[in-house]
Amino acid sequence: MTETTFPQTMGQQFGRRSWAEPWKIKMVEPIKMTTRAEREQAIAKAGYNTFLLRSSDVYIDLLTDSGTSAMSDRQWAGIMLGDEAYAGSDNFYRLEKAIQDHYGYKYIVPTHQGRGAEHLISQAVIKQGDYIPGNMYFTTTRLHQELAGGTFVDVIVDAAHDPTDLSPFKGNIDLNKLEALIEKVGAENIPYVSLAGTVNMAGGQPVSMANVRELRALCDKHNIRLYLDATRMAENCFFIQEREKGYADKPVAEILREFCGYTDGAWMSSKKDHLVNIGGWLAVNDEDVFDKARNMVVVYEGLHTYGGMSGRDMEALAIGIGESVQDDHLRARIGQVYYLGELLTDWKIPIVQPVGGHAIFLDAKKFYPHISQDKFPAQTLASELYLESGIRAMERGVVSAGRDPETGDHRYPALELVRLTIPRRVYTQAHMDVTAEAVRAVYENRENTNGLKMVYEPDYLRFFQARFEQL
Ligand code: F0G
Repeated sequence: MTETTFPQTMGQQFGRRSWAEPWKIKMVEPIKMTTRAEREQAIAKAGYNTFLLRSSDVYIDLLTDSGTSAMSDRQWAGIMLGDEAYAGSDNFYRLEKAIQDHYGYKYIVPTHQGRGAEHLISQAVIKQGDYIPGNMYFTTTRLHQELAGGTFVDVIVDAAHDPTDLSPFKGNIDLNKLEALIEKVGAENIPYVSLAGTVNMAGGQPVSMANVRELRALCDKHNIRLYLDATRMAENCFFIQEREKGYADKPVAEILREFCGYTDGAWMSSKKDHLVNIGGWLAVNDEDVFDKARNMVVVYEGLHTYGGMSGRDMEALAIGIGESVQDDHLRARIGQVYYLGELLTDWKIPIVQPVGGHAIFLDAKKFYPHISQDKFPAQTLASELYLESGIRAMERGVVSAGRDPETGDHRYPALELVRLTIPRRVYTQAHMDVTAEAVRAVYENRENTNGLKMVYEPDYLRFFQARFEQL
């Protein structure tokens, strides 16, 4: 183990014995390798934006872990039990029960995916001029808060902005920052605190149980609600089990119930933790908020017993929720991310440390110190990795951060990252080896790389559709 590797690697947990996934493969999907000339054409056609590539031009697809999981045989069997009634589908009631059992919230509103739920909660509780503090922004979450008239305020701990800081819970909220905001704007202008598990934009960094407990007390003192982005909360609970005193012998399922018990509700992109290709929900304990959201869902998503999902989607999701909290599943899932992280760490390639739950984040500022942030170092790195290997990754830097709505300038985040996101139960250890070697090749060629110029910029969530040219 190298010094920079986070305390408990998978190897250590198992006494340096090898470990393997708790499943075997029943069906495969062929993928093809392209030539360098084909990739040069494909990425130029895509405006050097990996979101605009065709997936048939991609070899190993690490764009996202969203909706890209492999479902189990049980989930596929569940697909056959779809009750496609317009109203009152049996599958909805099974989904509702799975959420209540595992997350503990009272009232459930299904949505087609996470941003559908973000839209409902934002419109239901934010009023014009409100402030919403949270542990680092997420693109769609912040946009829905802004569209509802709110201003997002980042109150994450400082360590989250430093890719070399080895603190175990870099997703925590800094309670002093939060108190200062409450003092400045008044509790009555803060509809809720927006707390995310394994903070995506910080590198998949977890929140501790101690932090959410103290946060609850602070919210109670000021009568502010606490809502959770539960998208990767099962993974967050694995880190609590691994790192926080008193949790080593508790099953993740139990840790999850305890954590959610400190919050008033959650929105969920089931396309991540829940091992399905589509789905999401909003869950709250407050009847008033539920009433509003359930009324709005029929306007924007679909009836309140399907919310944009088919019956079969809801069945696969209900089963996936149960699978997502199993300890052996999470150990293998995060173990695979650790495996890739350890290879890159051993080769001294700059990545966000400690390695997070769903992805390895390459530190593009360290790859390309000669490329200034207005020439999009992370966007450049993602396109170089594709050119080198056909591996698709995602920019998480200045392009994702967008523009300040007041000044119209780029927002320059401290972190300028490329995310190698690992889909759940999809790729093998050999795919991770190939990925690590491709990253190393790009790193070795770093001095010969120039930045990009943005030539097309959409108004919302520009990273999805912006186009670039090489400098
Ligand atoms: N919250 C978090 C933390 C997310 O990572 C996402 C999606 C959402 C909310 C929105 O959910 O996509 O189902 O509408 N993240 C994807 C990603 C897109 O690649 O990280 P959605």
